[in-house]
Amino acid sequence: MAAEDDPDADETGTNDPDPAEGDLDTSELTRVADLDAFEDVDRIIVDVEGREIAVFAVDGEFHAVSNYCVHQGGPVCEGMLSGGLSVEDPANADDRAELDYSYADRLVSCPWHGWEFDVVTGEHLARPKYRLPTYDVVVDDGAVYLDA
Ligand code: FES
Repeated sequence: MAAEDDPDADETGTNDPDPAEGDLDTSELTRVADLDAFEDVDRIIVDVEGREIAVFAVDGEFHAVSNYCVHQGGPVCEGMLSGGLSVEDPANADDRAELDYSYADRLVSCPWHGWEFDVVTGEHLARPKYRLPTYDVVVDDGAVYLDA
C-alpha cells in the first residue's frame, strides 16, 4: 500500500509510531552515521565543509570536538582514549594521599605531543584555558547528527 493510501500514515507519509522520533528537521545538520555504527567504535571523525570533527560515544552520550589540536594542529582525536588519576590530599598529614581514577574513557591524548583533552568539555586537563571547540550532537530516528 502506498503511503498516500494508508489511513494510518501521518501528513509526512510515514507511519512513525513515535511523533517525537524522526520529526526533527535534520536538513541543516551533518549526518555522522547510523546509531548502530557506534557499537564497535568509540568515535567517528567526519569532514564538515573542510573541518574534521570527531563524535565520541561516552557513557551512552555523544560529544563532538574539533580534530585540530590547539597546541600545534595535530589530529588530536586520533589519539588514545583513557581516563586519568588525580591525587587528593589527605585530611591529616600522617595519612596517605588518595588516588582517584576519573574521566573514564573521556580523555583523548593527542598523538603528536601527548596533550590530553576532555572530549566532553573540550578542555585541556591541566590547563583549561586551552580548549578544543565543541559542537552539539543530535540523535534522531536511529542516526547521529552534528550541528556544526
Ligand atoms: S599538536 Fe597536539 S599535543 Fe602538540
